[in-house]
Amino acid sequence: MGTDFYLLGHESAEDQRLIRQAQDLAGETSWLFDQLDIPVGARAIDLGCGPRGVLDQLSARVGPSGTVVGLERGEDTLARARVFVAEHGLHNVELIQGDARATGQPPGSFDLVHARLVLVNVPRPEEIAREMVALARPGGAVASHEADYWPHRCDPPCPAWDRLFELFQAHSRDHGVDLFVGSRSHRLLREAGLTDIQVRPIVYVYPKGHPRREIFVHFIQNVRTELLEAGRIEAKELDGLMTELVAHLAREDVLVISHMFFQVWGRKPHHAG
Ligand SMILES: C[S@@+](CC[C@H](N)C(=O)[O-])C[C@H]1O[C@@H](n2cnc3c(N)ncnc32)[C@H](O)[C@@H]1O
Repeated sequence: MGTDFYLLGHESAEDQRLIRQAQDLAGETSWLFDQLDIPVGARAIDLGCGPRGVLDQLSARVGPSGTVVGLERGEDTLARARVFVAEHGLHNVELIQGDARATGQPPGSFDLVHARLVLVNVPRPEEIAREMVALARPGGAVASHEADYWPHRCDPPCPAWDRLFELFQAHSRDHGVDLFVGSRSHRLLREAGLTDIQVRPIVYVYPKGHPRREIFVHFIQNVRTELLEAGRIEAKELDGLMTELVAHLAREDVLVISHMFFQVWGRKPHHAG
């Protein structure tokens, strides 16, 4: 199990998906930021910012006198974030390559620490939760937006979906990734010292035509090579399952139920203990 494991990979197609997804999630993130009372001039950090993430939204919230640090481990992904920041003239955004578990940023130096859809893709999410709380100044805010695959399914059911989800879960488990971390993200942050914790649950259905309906197909494409290399399945069988799944999702009468998302936010106490 490599310490650098990241479930969804850094292919260009994945970053394109993340850029589109950031647009889809902008409303929810805006709602979350509204709860936090982020002052103009604030110093904020987004861990695992991806090629876009919430950088533009945070940039607008803190204003020209504020600072947003976007921290991302993937080199190519970071390069795409640099293009995004330059193209959008986000002059108050600073991008750094680093590990969200040990950022090297001074503890207690941020008014807001945020991470979205990072814990659900990596082993040892508690280490990132600890770093999130450590980075916040006393009285500062910590906010997270994570997924939990618990409700993730389609109806009517599809044997190909079920088999592919079994494979996806086994692959994740092998690498220490908890696909169900969303529901315990409040606990990870509490154990790391966060207080005044609040939680907002979000779940969707993706009917035919919804832009996120095929998300599970994309995830399996992302891990295809690893599944084959690990000998979990033969290419022919995998391709057959994918064909079956895509055909199922093309049906009008099939409903996809999303992951459950948990937005969790709280404050770092002024005095520990
Ligand atoms: C699913 S993407 C989400 C990106 C962005 N937060 C968003 O919501 O659009 C997760 C990102 O976290 C990054 N990541 C994973 N593990 C990391 C780590 N230990 N340190 C920094 N970034 C990490 C990945 O490279 C990827 O870009």
